[in-house]
Amino acid sequence: MSINQHNLYDFDTHIAEIYDTQENDTQDIELVRNLLRGKPSLNILEPFCGTGRLLIPLALDGHSILGLDQSQVMLQLAQKKIKELPDDVQKRVQLQCTDVTVETWPKEYDLVILGFNCFYELATAEEQENCIYQASRACNPGGYIYVDNDHMEGELDAAWQDMNHKYVYLSGTCKDGYQVKNTRETIWFDVKRRLARFDRRYQIISPDGAITEYQFTQQKHPVSKVEVQTWLEKHGFEILGVYGDHSGNPYHHYAPKAIFWAKKR
Ligand SMILES: C[S@@+](CC[C@H](N)C(=O)[O-])C[C@H]1O[C@@H](n2cnc3c(N)ncnc32)[C@H](O)[C@@H]1O
Repeated sequence: MSINQHNLYDFDTHIAEIYDTQENDTQDIELVRNLLRGKPSLNILEPFCGTGRLLIPLALDGHSILGLDQSQVMLQLAQKKIKELPDDVQKRVQLQCTDVTVETWPKEYDLVILGFNCFYELATAEEQENCIYQASRACNPGGYIYVDNDHMEGELDAAWQDMNHKYVYLSGTCKDGYQVKNTRETIWFDVKRRLARFDRRYQIISPDGAITEYQFTQQKHPVSKVEVQTWLEKHGFEILGVYGDHSGNPYHHYAPKAIFWAKKR
């Protein structure tokens, strides 16, 4: 487990349904597809795979994928969706319940995907760099890595320093009538080291009004473009492209994203 002791996505099944209905952007999938254009079917590893938002379309494209995630709840929903796919596609997908900060990642992959801000799940730069190190060991020579993060250079952005704002995220009503309320409040930050800690509250309200509440502290370290670039180069990757958004526009200083496409030497 990360020094973050709790995983929001592993308390209760309802979070997976809410995640799937609210985080359904496909632009990053199209970007990955463009980067893979002209390549044969690949063996892909996707740590932090969640409910398979990226993994399922890539399996439908003909690739073989192993998805790793620490949350049984997210993997169960991914598995349910995979069971609805044609038999040949199902055979190309495997899922494994793994804490990627603890376990050694499996090897011999043509592509490792660190998609959709998965570094926000990790508490420190050390844990994030370790993911790049593990990805390098998991990748065949000549294999690729895709790393997709929001962009923040320099000191901790002012938006992360607001202690008075209750941020609501992944909240809504599920098909069975249960409501999910998910809030995050900043309780501490370190501007220079770009660290922030949050008080997180996750409430499940049953149709008859019974409330179950989970409360935990989570730390995040929003990575910079410079950090990811340094770690990729240090751990044997040659950077082929840096994109500033999911449309594949080039990275620039004010770009919303810093997305790397790199090749293992
Ligand atoms: C924001 S979701 C992203 C899901 C997916 N990659 C996508 O693009 O939709 C983050 C996922 O990371 C998983 N996760 C968080 N910490 C983890 C850890 N230490 N090991 C493995 N998975 C972890 C969570 O369970 C969750 O499913």
